[in-house]
Amino acid sequence: MDDRAIGMFDSGFGGLTVARALIDLVPAEDLVYFGDTGRYPYGPRSLDEVREFARQITAMLVERHDVKMVVVACNTAAAAALELLRFEHDIPIVGVVDPGVRAALAATRNRRVGVIGTVGTIGSGAYQRAVRSTRAEVELTCSACPGFVEFVERGETDSEQVHVLAERLLAPVKDAGVDTLLLGCTHYPFLARTIGDVMGREVVLVSSAEETAFEVLDILEETGLGRRTAGKGRHRWVSSGDVAWFRSLGARLFGPEIENVEAWTWD
Ligand code: DGL
Repeated sequence: MDDRAIGMFDSGFGGLTVARALIDLVPAEDLVYFGDTGRYPYGPRSLDEVREFARQITAMLVERHDVKMVVVACNTAAAAALELLRFEHDIPIVGVVDPGVRAALAATRNRRVGVIGTVGTIGSGAYQRAVRSTRAEVELTCSACPGFVEFVERGETDSEQVHVLAERLLAPVKDAGVDTLLLGCTHYPFLARTIGDVMGREVVLVSSAEETAFEVLDILEETGLGRRTAGKGRHRWVSSGDVAWFRSLGARLFGPEIENVEAWTWD
């Protein structure tokens, strides 16, 4: 048994979709969530730069918050750095790419699966590799959606403009006849209504959030790292950007639990 908190991070608000699933599944666990809103978006940056950010944040969560596990709740950071973080730390490090792939493969019926993500994630080939490693016989269509993250970070989740952008960016996956669309960026579930409208009702939208939470639960059970104390866990929210904005948009996207947001400044 281990009463230390679970650490989780994203470039900003996207990882809150994973935090929600995790808190619902393991409510007794303490959580420290870090949103790197001072440096978002990660998607257009080079993978080398994102890898350094991910290393820096993981080290901060381990050294300052003494976390027992880190969930990389950002596809771009997971695509850039997951293996390296696992090599550098001796605590479990959980990503979102493999859980998302598992969920998408379980959902597809016509074996045509779409994946959308940031330019960094799609360009990294992480999804193409993850699907190949399962040996599943599926036709995969990947498409980058630059601009989606910025709409979410501005709190604009179903405006006319985001709809117009979605029509354009989702055309390749729509034309490919996919019956399952994996939201390969943790921000995208906040755009689910717009994405769903554009793709049509018959296409299932899959997020990696729930499957990632199940992976955390499995690890807690297998390793005995679960919290001894029952009851509701404590949740801390930390942001490298404007904390007032994190609190107000976070409360809107996530819920009123986001009350106190701690500021973090990179030296
Ligand atoms: N939520 C991050 C992801 O899953 C968004 C990255 C960004 O900041 O562009 O990829």
